[in-house]
Amino acid sequence: MGEAPRTWHYGLVARWWAEFNVDGPEIDYFRRHVEEGQPALDVACGTGRLLIPYLRAGLDVDGCDVSADMIELCRERAAREGVSPTLLVQPMHELDPPRRYRTIYVCGGFGLGSTRGQDAQALRRFHECLEPGATLVLDNENPYAGGSPWRYWQADGRAGIPREWEPLEEAERRRAADGSELALQSRVVDLDPLQQSLSCEMRAGLWRDGELVQREEQTLRLNLYFMHELLLLLERAGFEDVVVHGDYVEEPPTGDSTFLVFVARKPD
Ligand SMILES: C[S@@+](CC[C@H](N)C(=O)[O-])C[C@H]1O[C@@H](n2cnc3c(N)ncnc32)[C@H](O)[C@@H]1O
Repeated sequence: MGEAPRTWHYGLVARWWAEFNVDGPEIDYFRRHVEEGQPALDVACGTGRLLIPYLRAGLDVDGCDVSADMIELCRERAAREGVSPTLLVQPMHELDPPRRYRTIYVCGGFGLGSTRGQDAQALRRFHECLEPGATLVLDNENPYAGGSPWRYWQADGRAGIPREWEPLEEAERRRAADGSELALQSRVVDLDPLQQSLSCEMRAGLWRDGELVQREEQTLRLNLYFMHELLLLLERAGFEDVVVHGDYVEEPPTGDSTFLVFVARKPD
């Protein structure tokens, strides 16, 4: 269906994820759902932030991601930790795994680099790949929340974008396990309030022995969804009994919740 989704989780950005994005409240939240329904599929599993701890705990989970770089780093970490998951390189709207699941979960991956049509198709693929009575757990950052650039929804707020880059050489660097250093910068390029889409750019640098030896630029366009849109999309994809949680606790969200989590059931 149309163009392949384009995310920015490649090359140095993928390395950054593997090195530094290894914890967070999402891990315990999604684990409870996986414990209740296996086998499970981690869609947009990235470098295995959730998947690898689950496998280490003996849970039966496969992973898939559109980025071959993220999957490769996930596979390397899995090997280091003595587990060997089934990992697929697939965009979620073309999901075609080898088995059916009791739980499919998506953490931080929905609406990235895809079209709205592909997002709706992804929800239908999740429905198809679940067993009857099984559960989809999908999170989404509220378009108006926390770090989201809400001011860009207004013409005045958009006037200042994109802002000039700071020199990459001056960005804060973090030391990776092999002693090299990495830095990431990002900026908003555009927000289209009519289409509810956000375009961002990311620059990454790699330093060895204090010298900048590699630099990369990536772009990402992402679709912004409000709660009621996602509820409608889930219903149209065939899900029912949708419960919404806020910020990775099993309680209803409030207007101050940054993340919403949709827990949806495929009918028996
Ligand atoms: C923010 S990272 C989250 C990774 C992981 N779920 C976690 O929480 O650590 C988003 C991931 O979604 C993947 N992704 C983006 N668009 C995708 C798509 N259309 N299909 C599958 N994976 C996708 C990216 O490659 C990236 O690994």
